[in-house]
Amino acid sequence: MNDDKVFYITTPIYYVNDIPHIGHAYTTIACDAVSRYKRMQGYDVHFLTGTDEHGQKIQTAAEAKGKTPQQLVDEIHLNFKRLWEVLNISNDDFIRTTEPRHIKVVQAMFKKLMDQGDIYKGTYTGYYCVPCETYVPENAMGPNKTCPDCGRPLTIMEEESYFFRGSKYVPELIKFYEEHVKAVMPKIRYNEIMSFLKGGVKDQSVSRTSIKWGIPVPGDEKHVIYVWFDALINYAAAVGYLDDPEKFSHYWPHVRHMVGKDIIRFHCVIWPLMLLALGINLPVEVIAHGWWTYNGEKMSKSKGNVVDPFKMVEEYGLDPFRYFLLREVPFGNDGDFSELALIGRINSDLANDLGNLLNRTLQMIKSYRDGVVPDCVNAESELSSMAFNILDRVDEAMNNFAFDEALKAIWEFIGRANKFIDETTPWKLAKDETQAERLNFVLLNLYEALCFSALLIAPTMPDTAKKIWLQLGLEGEPVKMLYEKFTWGGGAGKEINKAEVLFPRIDINEWKKTQEEKKKMSEEIKEPAIEHEAEISIDDFKNVEMRVAKIINVEEIPSSKKLYKLEVDLGYEKRTVCSGIKAFFTPEELNGKTVILVTNLKPVKLCGVESNGMILAASVKKDGVSEQLTLLTPEKDIPLGSRVS
Ligand code: MSP
Repeated sequence: MNDDKVFYITTPIYYVNDIPHIGHAYTTIACDAVSRYKRMQGYDVHFLTGTDEHGQKIQTAAEAKGKTPQQLVDEIHLNFKRLWEVLNISNDDFIRTTEPRHIKVVQAMFKKLMDQGDIYKGTYTGYYCVPCETYVPENAMGPNKTCPDCGRPLTIMEEESYFFRGSKYVPELIKFYEEHVKAVMPKIRYNEIMSFLKGGVKDQSVSRTSIKWGIPVPGDEKHVIYVWFDALINYAAAVGYLDDPEKFSHYWPHVRHMVGKDIIRFHCVIWPLMLLALGINLPVEVIAHGWWTYNGEKMSKSKGNVVDPFKMVEEYGLDPFRYFLLREVPFGNDGDFSELALIGRINSDLANDLGNLLNRTLQMIKSYRDGVVPDCVNAESELSSMAFNILDRVDEAMNNFAFDEALKAIWEFIGRANKFIDETTPWKLAKDETQAERLNFVLLNLYEALCFSALLIAPTMPDTAKKIWLQLGLEGEPVKMLYEKFTWGGGAGKEINKAEVLFPRIDINEWKKTQEEKKKMSEEIKEPAIEHEAEISIDDFKNVEMRVAKIINVEEIPSSKKLYKLEVDLGYEKRTVCSGIKAFFTPEELNGKTVILVTNLKPVKLCGVESNGMILAASVKKDGVSEQLTLLTPEKDIPLGSRVS
């Protein structure tokens, strides 16, 4: 294998405290498209993704769910694996930071840095943002000592900590970036990193004693390694830094990290400083993309507007979703996700331009040449020369991760092919015997344009490319082909298959109606009808006598599944009460509880026992049956028999 044709690309490893959202889908689809493209260019590609499973966020999320962190990460990381399957992601590896192959590399690197004096012990005091797991320097704080990233209040933390002597390597890193201006992309991020580095970088605290869920510091187990120090190492661990030096030296010199703009300091400052200290090559490139908003608003769980990629794929299909994300915004910029914009792309770019080209061409080959692609003396045309020019443009764009530019170029070609039909008017040629060779030329060119388009769109829309391929009567699938093997005109003699619609058009008005209906339905589901009683006067209410009582004895009623026979003390008298709360309490739990009793209800006999009152409880009912129940009790001590009003 030619060593220049190696391509190693990584996504960030995703936190498993949350469900996957469109931001995660975006980076991973972008890495997938570029990986597939490079494979089709004959590269040996290694595409890595995975999950970040240690740290405070995970510990907190696990506590909130009443689980151990290990249980939580074992469950949640599967959501990411499932999403990658649904999104047709072709990753070669998936690393979890709780795997032994990762942990041992983290500990080995930590130890190496300790042994060489680049990690030392000290005390750290600083303003810390718990959700972001990061100390915030005073000059970077938001108003009223808040986190500049998430806006939440910071807490002062003081702890014994190990520090990484990153500051020592800053001049070397600045020099590297001066010599490698494309090592951080786009340029705006490069400038941001350079000015940050030139502003001075302190040594980083790289251990915590305040949390437990992490990789222990070798030889000092009350410390766990700071989650970012741990996480960044995944990129090296996954390609055999310790265990497989051959694999490591094969892939590492070609590593590129794709990340969101919010985590570039970790990837373009901390990680390279760690690598310099460890004597490992720096990444070829860190590519930072922008953030997605939804209908113009920042996505957040509390607003409930986080775009769910599973749902988008279910509603609009996988390839339209992949296409939209890569086509809609210039990579690196922020973008706005809206379903209307997605539908716009489906109807125009996919159904109109690509779908029509396929349909019209197949119909004509079927009608005019019995479904067999005709040959001609010379297949070279303006379409063929444009095709190779487009491939150069696509190549340049893909090498710059400018997916939108690549797709724009491909659609120019598709547009040109559609125009070629209008200009050459095959339906007229078909009526004139003397134009048979010309018609052959036109049909063969259109067929080739479609083969080529399928190859061009394959990295972005692998399934669609395959569908086109099959309809064209070709074997295999485009993503497994090499661009260099394609020859214009090679399709003559192929028998085409039945034309099928690739992308059904979406009627906007129908869509709007369905959305409204769905919204109505979900509101109905969210708010089950509450049955209110008829209005009463204050006097009606006063008629109900309620008093504080204490349960002093609990007995089973053998003939009843629901009722307990309770003896209650009202201070001035003791009473027997039957209460249907057996499903929710053991007798031991009830004995001694202070409750509220309705004392002036007419006595009734229940399962042969006379009940002289009713204990108050709040409950959630489904189909008339209580699913949850809690007893009302006074909020502080008060004599038995006190009146409730
Ligand atoms: N675990 C760290 C990364 C460690 S890499 C050694 C992490 N995880 S994350 O799950 O919170 O975020 C992963 C990626 O999702 C980041 O690159 C972030 O930029 C990206 N996005 C999160 N929300 C996003 C949008 N709304 N839009 C686009 N990307 C967004 O950070």
